[in-house]
Amino acid sequence: MNLELCRTIELPKIDDPRGSLTFVEGRNHVPFDIARVYYLYDVPGGAERGGHAHKGLHQLIVAMSGSFDVVLDDGYEKKRFHLNRSYYGLYVCPMIWRELDNFSSGSVCMVLASNRYDEADYYRDYNDFLHAKGVA
Ligand code: TYD
Repeated sequence: MNLELCRTIELPKIDDPRGSLTFVEGRNHVPFDIARVYYLYDVPGGAERGGHAHKGLHQLIVAMSGSFDVVLDDGYEKKRFHLNRSYYGLYVCPMIWRELDNFSSGSVCMVLASNRYDEADYYRDYNDFLHAKGVA
């Protein structure tokens, strides 16, 4: 239930002999206004991130460098996405449990988010999340 709303989005890519350029506009390339940017880096081999869901937050996850996997779970089904290009982003709608793993060495994960950080927006317990989805 709503995993089908999550999808990879191909971002604009301006090729140039001097290097490539990609940009993201809120409510144009992503279906939300961008209020926050954060990034994960210096991730040690074998580490896992995520392990939570958001009640109302929309996000776009981009592999700015290197690669990693994102497993999305709406309580009914799971899907694994491999991100390895900085001109593709994974759109994650609210109420999706996510795990990030398989980080390559030196990888950088950038996240564009629809709101500022708010711990009250998190489900950090998987059973609480399933309960909220009406599964458990
Ligand atoms: P968390 O969202 O659990 O990280 P991840 O999903 O990448 O594993 O956040 C880790 C810590 O960082 C937690 O204590 C909250 C804090 N944090 C902020 O203060 N601001 C932010 O924008 C984010 C994303 C996290």
